[in-house]
This record gives sequence, C-alpha cells and structure tokens, in this order.
Amino acid sequence: MESFIPLSVPSFQGNEKKYVEEAVDTEWVSTGGAFVTRFEKTTAEYNGANFAVACSSGTAALHVALLEAGVEAGDEVIVPTVTFISPVNTIRYVGAVPVFMDCDEYLNMDMEKVEQFLTGECDFKGGTLIDRRSKKKVSAVVPVHVFGHPADMDRLMELSERYGLVVIEDATESLGSVYVKGRYEGRKTGTIGRFGCYSFNGNKIITTGGGGMIVTKDEKAASHMKYLTTQAKDDEVYFVHDEVGFNYRMTNLQAALGLAQLELLDRYIEIKRSNFRLYREALDGCRGLSLIDEPEYARSNFWFYSLLVDRERYGVSRDDLLKKLATHGVQARPLWKLNHLQKPYTGCLSFRIERAPALYERVLSIPCSVGLGEEELRRVVSLLRK
Ligand SMILES: Cc1ncc(COP(=O)(O)O)c(C=O)c1O
Repeated sequence: MESFIPLSVPSFQGNEKKYVEEAVDTEWVSTGGAFVTRFEKTTAEYNGANFAVACSSGTAALHVALLEAGVEAGDEVIVPTVTFISPVNTIRYVGAVPVFMDCDEYLNMDMEKVEQFLTGECDFKGGTLIDRRSKKKVSAVVPVHVFGHPADMDRLMELSERYGLVVIEDATESLGSVYVKGRYEGRKTGTIGRFGCYSFNGNKIITTGGGGMIVTKDEKAASHMKYLTTQAKDDEVYFVHDEVGFNYRMTNLQAALGLAQLELLDRYIEIKRSNFRLYREALDGCRGLSLIDEPEYARSNFWFYSLLVDRERYGVSRDDLLKKLATHGVQARPLWKLNHLQKPYTGCLSFRIERAPALYERVLSIPCSVGLGEEELRRVVSLLRK
C-alpha cells in the first residue's frame, strides 16, 4: 500500500513543544502573556517592519487593516479574482464592494490592467477616485502575493501614489518572500503597503494552528488596531468601550508555537526552494507539464508549487490528473474557483478578466510540505511522468 502524500502539512522541528509547555506551565494560555508580544516583536524584526499586531487569523488581520485604512461602506476596493476568498469577504465585512482584477503569468494581480482600469474607467477629481460605471469611490487596493510569489509592487505603489489609494497587502501566503530588484530591493512582502497581513493557518509555511499578524510603519495605527482586536476596551476595571471592538487577539499558546516556528522559517524557505528545483529538473522535458517559476524581481518563499497542465500536449486534463494522483495517494488541488464567479459576488464589477479563466483550467498545486523526503518527491514526479 502506497503511503499518503498530503498537499501541505505543518512541520514541527524546533522549540515548539518547549515554548507551548512553558505557556501551559505559567498558566498564560489566553490572549495575555509574554509570547504574544515576543512573537509580535520577532515577526516585525524578521520582516523589517516597525510594528506588528498579532491576530486570531489572517482574515481577522485583513478585516482590521481595512477598518484602520478608513475603507468605508459603499467604497470600491480592487482585489484579484485569483485568490483564496478571505480578502474578498473582508471587503464585504466593512460594507465595501470588490472590483475584481485579472491575473498575470505568476497568478498575481495584473498591474497593467489595474492601470488601464484606473486611467480608463475612473475619474480622479479633487483627490478622490470615482469609478465611472458605478459612481462609487475607489478607496483601496488589496494585492495578494499568490502562493508566495511577490506581486509587482513597484508598479502598484506608483499607481496608488498617483491616485491616492490605500494599499493593504495580503501577504498571508508569502511570509519571507523578498524583492531582489527595483524600488523595493531587500524589502519583504507585507512591508510595502500601509498594512501587510500574514496568516499562520495550519497549511501555511509556518503555523500557530490558527493565527494572523498585521505589520505597519505607523505606531498610532498599530496601537489602535491592537485596541480594536482586544474588544476596544478603554477601562480595564469598569469595562468602558468607546468603539466597536473584536475578539481578534492571538492567544499565548498560539504565539508560543509561532515563535518556535519563526525560528525555523529561513530553513523552511530553503527547503521549499530546493524542492521546487528538484520538481523542475525532474519534470524537465515532460511534454505538456511546466511549473510557474518566481518573477525575476523577487525571491519567493515558494509556499505552493503551481503545475501547469497543457491538456493537448500532456494528453490528460488537469481534473483527470487530479483524480489519478488521488488514486495513488497523492493529494493535489486545483486553483480556487475564481472569485468574480462565486455566488455572493456575481453582481460585483470586474475588469477585463481574460487570463484567469484559462489559467484556472490548467493550474494544479502539487505536494509542497517542508517535511517531504526526496523519495516522496520522486514518487510524485514519476506519477506525473506516467
Ligand atoms: C490569500 C489568503 N488570504 C487570506 C487568508 C486567510 O488567512 P486565515 O486562514 O488565517 O484566516 C488565507 C489563508 O488561509 C489566504 O491564503
């Protein structure tokens, strides 16, 4: 019987048990406790960000960042159609509406099309950008660094500066990815827009079980976001609340796990990168199969590996390959259903979505866990080659 190879599972190779035990021993298991602030500080330092706010999930992080950015009910927010649905939902949580954008060859938001939308479909008057079709104000943009590959922030920041848009980076999948060229050379994803959000969900490159983080340069905003995530409590004794808050703070247990995982992150990125090279070399010359590489301006954390299946040349469709792999105990996954086609969002505006549907048909994510051994990687390759 062949052993099961999952798509993406966590790997605990360091101080995880030690730190979690410490949290339990000290009885600090909830949202108070030293690990939460230590994890915030270390995550900020790792990313070269000034401030970090630990949250209960990446979704919570995005929600609070949108609120802090001042996105209001009725505003439009530009977001990619190719992404896990979370950032789209958070736009709705604040009462705003998404405008869906197409993707580029790396599955990231196509900045050429963002420019076409902003210059061709909107009017910029008195510092406000108005979508001519809907008459709504366009206030923000949420780029997603899909599967770890950094989006073209050089281009997006130039546009956001020109049109006064707030940028909130969804860096939930790209912790540790870095720009190696251009205006942001040496900068990590998540540290370029006004706010950057990470996720430590179980399938991410490092995990806290469930958790998220917001990073920012803005001290006042960081302190206000911490206030919002802790029920907006203005008085600890009399429970006075001057704003509507949330129960969104990470727990000490989660942070203990996260701190230990963060110590391993650079090693994990090296493993992800080296496993990608192994897949690429082993699949070289396999007709109809290729992998999406990192953009030349960045060094990706290669969180997920995207295989492109060319049905004509490979002779098997993406979905048949998915089923075939499953029968041999190998878990793979198609791209998320495109968001402009998801039921709650079919009435929303989108702009020239042309490339995403074609890529949707072809992309298959293949096993990428840090703990994969060479034998397992070769088993995946040999099944793909068959
Ligand atoms: C692109 C993207 N955005 C947001 C999230 C939300 O993160 P969480 O699951 O921690 O809420 C995830 C991951 O789950 C994600 O992949």
